[in-house]
Amino acid sequence: MKKSRNASSARTPGPSAPRVAIAIMAAGKGTRLKSQLPKVLHEVGGKPLLAHVIAAATRIVPPNDVFAIIGHEADRVRSAVANTAINFVLQSEQRGTGHALMVAREALAGYDHVIVLSGDAPQITPQTLARLLNFHLDQQAAMTLLSADIDNPTSYGRILRKNPRDAEVQAIVEEKSATPAQKKIREINAGFYVFAIAQLVSHIEKLPTANPHSAYYLTEIAEVLRKAKQRVAVYKTEDPGEVLGANTRAELSFIDHQIRMCKCQQLMSEGVTIFYPATCVIDDDVEIAPDTVIEPFVQILGKSRIGAACRIRSYSVIRDSEIADGVLVRPGCILEEAHVGPNAVLGPYSHLRPGSDIGEAAHVGNFVETKKIKLGKGSKANHLTYLGDAEIGAGVNIGAGTITCNYDGVNKHTTIIEDGVFIGSDSTLVAPVRVGKGAYVGAASCITEDVPGDALAVGRSRQIVKEGWAREKRAAKLK
Ligand code: UD1
Ligand code: CA
Repeated sequence: MKKSRNASSARTPGPSAPRVAIAIMAAGKGTRLKSQLPKVLHEVGGKPLLAHVIAAATRIVPPNDVFAIIGHEADRVRSAVANTAINFVLQSEQRGTGHALMVAREALAGYDHVIVLSGDAPQITPQTLARLLNFHLDQQAAMTLLSADIDNPTSYGRILRKNPRDAEVQAIVEEKSATPAQKKIREINAGFYVFAIAQLVSHIEKLPTANPHSAYYLTEIAEVLRKAKQRVAVYKTEDPGEVLGANTRAELSFIDHQIRMCKCQQLMSEGVTIFYPATCVIDDDVEIAPDTVIEPFVQILGKSRIGAACRIRSYSVIRDSEIADGVLVRPGCILEEAHVGPNAVLGPYSHLRPGSDIGEAAHVGNFVETKKIKLGKGSKANHLTYLGDAEIGAGVNIGAGTITCNYDGVNKHTTIIEDGVFIGSDSTLVAPVRVGKGAYVGAASCITEDVPGDALAVGRSRQIVKEGWAREKRAAKLK
């Protein structure tokens, strides 16, 4: 189920090594999801179904030999996985899985074999694909399909073997056309195949379309090839979990849960403590170092990396962020594209927006929002503060309620606060502005001009006291 980092390789390439391509069928709409989003872009484990399948494929062959067959919302699908450097084939009309491969014929012309993957089955492992390919080559088959025994085979195609003990296949029968006896077969067609390209190309035209959708079903090629006296073999995987397809929202949620549980197991085996893993949402690509503790109801998303001996307390949501060793994230923090230095303390309820760079042992506290700032070593902004577009040095104390006024309605400007500065509570710093090293800003100041180093700046009206004023007012009321 889990995608291991070390794919067992298919045959070692050599002068006579077969040229192998991978085709990923990803053109379908995903009608059963009832969604505006194409099926293969629905996410499990924090990334699109198709991204998982591409990751497995590119562990077997280089991206240049991978072809995703796209059609429904092709541009959207293409741009979602453009970073993978694979190729795309357009199936502008989706007339079935058989038709998908007809369209890919030209792209596959320079290869000997093609591994065909379903873009909606994200848990396939490179190990299984390598075994499937090797089995296919050993069997010298025209087609080899991957099968699995599953408890509830409903909706999958069933494998009809020539002989139960034999690897040869008679046909694949789809749920819709299966007889009651065939529906009892638990060995299903996983939707992953290897074809010898010469045989595929010379027989694919023979696919029938005598079905309610007048579609070309790739599954029917098994019978076509067998009738043409070609060898059709089946390789059964031991792990049925890895072939599950996500055709419905329920299946998506089930697979997502499996991937996340797997991720938690992997992290725990590597020395991370996770309390109540079932309540945590940790994406597949997240990295966490040993001795870090993850409390219940935490989300760690995207490409986040968390160091060793951190504690991430409940209700924190961390996306695409980097957290160094020994950091304490108190409850309810939100981090997006932030960087946090070693031994820093965040929260409760801090909001670190993109570009926040929190220095070593710095503190960002209750209801503090930061954006595009650098907060130096040991600096503190503990309460009710907005720091945006600011460069803040080391050993700075930012008093409660401080605001960097970074936006003039048109442009953003920078606030610079040098080392050792003390900003009194409730100050507003109107950028662009600089507060020099070691300076003090009196509480409730509105700072509109630069403050030299070691100076005191007070930018507020003076307090006036009117002796007896309140007593006189009360007395006036009583009259
Ligand atoms: C398919 C198999 C079924 C197997 C199951 C395993 C067929 C006819 N049936 O059924 O035997 O048990 O997978 O998961 O193949 N696609 C295209 N172009 C098209 C149609 C589909 O690229 O014209 C893509 C889809 O986007 C999807 C994949 O092919 O990623 C499989 O199609 P899907 O409709 O999900 O097939 P199943 O009904 O699951
Ligand atoms: Ca499917």
